[in-house]
Formats: sequence, structure tokens, C-alpha cells
Amino acid sequence: MDDARRFGVLDRGELPAEWDQGELEALVPGQAERIARLREADPAFAAFYERAVRGLHLARDPADLKERVVTLLGRERGIVSRRLEALPTLPVEERKRHGRALNLIKQWLAEVEAGRRAALEHAAEVREALDVTLPGRRPWVGHAHVLAQIRDELLDLFHGLGYSVYTSPEVEHDEYNFAKLNFPPDHPARDAHDTYFVGPEVLLRTHTSPGWVRAMEEHRPPLRLVFPGRVYRAEQVDASHMDQFHQIDGLCVDRDVSLADLKGTLNTFAHSIYGPRVRTRIIPIYFPFVEPGAQLDVAGAICDGTGRTAGGRCPVCKGSGWSELLGAGMVHPNVFRAVGYDPVEVTGFAFGMGLERIAMARYGIPEIRLFLENDLRFLSQF
Ligand code: PHE
Repeated sequence: MDDARRFGVLDRGELPAEWDQGELEALVPGQAERIARLREADPAFAAFYERAVRGLHLARDPADLKERVVTLLGRERGIVSRRLEALPTLPVEERKRHGRALNLIKQWLAEVEAGRRAALEHAAEVREALDVTLPGRRPWVGHAHVLAQIRDELLDLFHGLGYSVYTSPEVEHDEYNFAKLNFPPDHPARDAHDTYFVGPEVLLRTHTSPGWVRAMEEHRPPLRLVFPGRVYRAEQVDASHMDQFHQIDGLCVDRDVSLADLKGTLNTFAHSIYGPRVRTRIIPIYFPFVEPGAQLDVAGAICDGTGRTAGGRCPVCKGSGWSELLGAGMVHPNVFRAVGYDPVEVTGFAFGMGLERIAMARYGIPEIRLFLENDLRFLSQF
């Protein structure tokens, strides 16, 4: 039995069996000379050192490495420290030889530990580092509501025709919603706008036309304005009626504005919405604030104006061959008088349309309530 082993301290059994596995030179190159030197002092020292180096090399992370170093070099329980403590019990010659060997082991293992620690820390850095070659993560972005898309498309179109946007309050005075738009008090035309009142003279606007009055009171002619916004009517809710919906009104006031200008504008609009081949017609209809009043119809988009489809009566135009697109007309002289314009000097036309109706006709949406339900299965289709 060799000297080192005699003291039982460097026995193989003190270190885990896995520290014995693996070709050392492949794992931690450059140890051969050190091992040879230790073997000269005592083969048991060489074997211990080899195992210890392997053990340090096998550490998985810095914390694991620390534990292994404590096992080997720890001040109190470390194998090498205990061995150094036992030196004084040895005969002088052995004491010197073992002392030198153990101190070399201590120094060299500290070096191996430092190398291994640097390698582990570097590996961790690389793992955490930003890989700029990975594809980016696309953030989830929504898109404009179908009604907002149509509104913006129409505002774009009218912008091209020289119209600016004017917005006015959703909570409105009776005067602006009705009186100055030539609805006489207690006139049955008010009944067509089932109105939500929030006070005796204050209401939720039933159309965007009150904006004309506000704009004309603020500005002198000429005016070319569009009035987008939400309107309210106390309707019985069903597939095609809701108590809130959206409109865009248009107003053009100048000298010598004629019905021909109105027709030209409306046809430009209809062709831009439904394509250049769509057929249109203008028929008379009553609104208090225009004279004459008109309604623009487009030939059924599905039945091409025949009123019939393969399945029978056209479901969109209900057999008439035409769908109502908007109301329009020449601004009534009383409206000009109400805002202080001289109806002899200026003339104008106006029109108003519902956005839900346009969207429903374009996309074949059968149910108006879908617009407000915020169901992504519906909204994401547009
Ligand atoms: N304001 C009318 C409505 O809501 C529509 C309209 C606007 C009619 C302009 C004629 C001229 O029914």
C-alpha cells in the first residue's frame, strides 16, 4: 500500500463514481505533465487529481461547480484540506513530499475551477443573448371597424370632390335637429324621427343634418362640407333597424348651384361605391329641409334591377328592382333664412346616407345588430 493511501484520505470512494468516467485529455487537455509530476510523488495523488479535474469539468452550472470545489478544497470538510491537516502526523520526509504534492493539487484545481467557471458563464451568456437571426414576433394589431372603413372611404371620395369634414354634437337642441331645418312645431314629419329626449328641448340627434345649420351659422358661403356621425332613433329593433346608426350628410352652398350639380355629385358617388356600370334613378320624396326633395336609388346589386333572382323575388330590393341609397334635395329657402343666408342670392343641395345600409348592401350583411356586437368572428371578415 502506497503512502497516500495509507492515510485513507484520498480513497476513490470519497468521490462520486461518475468522476471516474471519460478520457481526461479529451475533456480537459494539458493535464498530462501535472499528472506525471504527481505520480512521482505518489500514484494515489495522480489518480485523485485526475478524478478531481474530471469532476470539476462535469459541473453543469456555476452553483454545481461551487459545490464540487467545496468537496475538494473546502476549508473545513474539503478532502485536500483534511489531508493537509494530517501532515504533521507523518514522518518528516513524507511530510515534505506530500505537502508539496497537496499544495500543487490545490493550486492546479483552483486553476481548473477558474477555467470551468469562465466557460459556464460564457455558455449562459450565449444562451441568454439576443439572436438577431430569429424571425420577429408580430404584435397583434386590430383594424378599423367595417363602418369606420366605409366612412373613411366616403370621406376620401368627398375630399376629392372638394368637401371638408364638419362634426357636430350627438346631443343636440330641438332647434337645430328640427326647427331650423324647417320642421314646423307639431308637424307629423317629426314623428318619422322617433326621438330620444334627454330634456324638454334637448335630444339625441336623429340625423346628421343639424350640422348644416351649425356650419352655416358659423361660416359664410360658399360651403362644401360633409357631416359624418352617429345618430339615434327610438326604433323597434329588428334585423334592419337599430336605435343608433351612422350617417354622412353632404352640403354644397354657393351661387347658382342647381339640381344638375346634385345629380352629377350623386352619380359620381354611386358609381364610386357600386362600380361605374350601376344604374341609378332619382325620384321625388318629401323632407322638410329640401325642396324639391329626392331619393337616389340604385338598381338592385343582386338582381340588376329586374327584381327577380333564380330563387324568385330578389331578397335585397324585395322585388322592386331598386334599393334606396340616400335622401337628397335642394336646400329649402326656409333653412337658409333660419341661418341668415339670403335664399335669393344663394342656392345649395344636400344629401344624407346611412352607413350601415351601404355596408349591408355591399357585403350582403343580413343583420344590422352585427355592427354593434363586437364579435371578432364578424369584424375580422372586413
Ligand atoms: N336627414 C335625412 C334623414 O336622416 C336625410 C337627408 C339628408 C335627406 C339630406 C335630404 C337631404 O332621413
